[in-house]
Amino acid sequence: MVTIAVDGPSGSGKSSVSRAVAARLGLAYLDTGAMYRAATLWCVRTDVALDDADAVADAVRAMPLTSGLDPAAPTVSLDGTDVAAAIRTTEVSSTVSKVATNLEVRAELKRRQRAIIDDEATGGFSGGRGIVAEGRDITTVVAPDADARVLLTASEEARLRRRSLEVHGAADAAAVAATRDQVLRRDRDDSTVSQFLQASDGVVTIDSSELDLDQTVAAVLAVVEQ
Ligand code: CDP
Repeated sequence: MVTIAVDGPSGSGKSSVSRAVAARLGLAYLDTGAMYRAATLWCVRTDVALDDADAVADAVRAMPLTSGLDPAAPTVSLDGTDVAAAIRTTEVSSTVSKVATNLEVRAELKRRQRAIIDDEATGGFSGGRGIVAEGRDITTVVAPDADARVLLTASEEARLRRRSLEVHGAADAAAVAATRDQVLRRDRDDSTVSQFLQASDGVVTIDSSELDLDQTVAAVLAVVEQ
């Protein structure tokens, strides 16, 4: 059983890289950002005011979330209904930090993430082979004892270009400018969580600014094989 932890900011390529690594090694894949996004959507859908920290925490503890761990087709469902598209809207992207900086929410989602990781150790989707979990605090908080821990970074320019391609399907000046405000604002809103994106002892930093997907996957696989 192997656990691989990958952290990185928006546009670092962590989701594509983590999925590819999981597929290559026959492991399960967990997108923890999708869980924070789903928590935000759940609060919106159940009419919980995002400013009410206690109500948000209660709602998240009761959230009927299921994460599908197949790297070829990861899913996220609320109450059995697929919410993959609904968690990627601008509304969710611009409010997720409010939910993610709630410490009780973090404790609840950490508990669920660890349960998923432990389940993979004894069976689960991967049949006991293991899991690649990605996010912003996986190497430091959720799985500090992972077999391989990677912090994926990229220059701001590369991150904005990738994110712009993802969201707008283009990376011309106008599309990048439209992406810039949102990405930088979320980076700032997230920055109060002190364990985010820390290069702690034993975490290997890979700068993907000049690497394509295959090269970045190869770099992560090299860390895993060390
Ligand atoms: O879209 P992007 O790749 O930037 O982010 P994501 O992985 O979908 O995560 C969305 C948001 O969830 C982040 O901006 C954080 O607020 C939160 N998050 C978190 O708090 N902890 C994690 N381990 C992963 C994401």
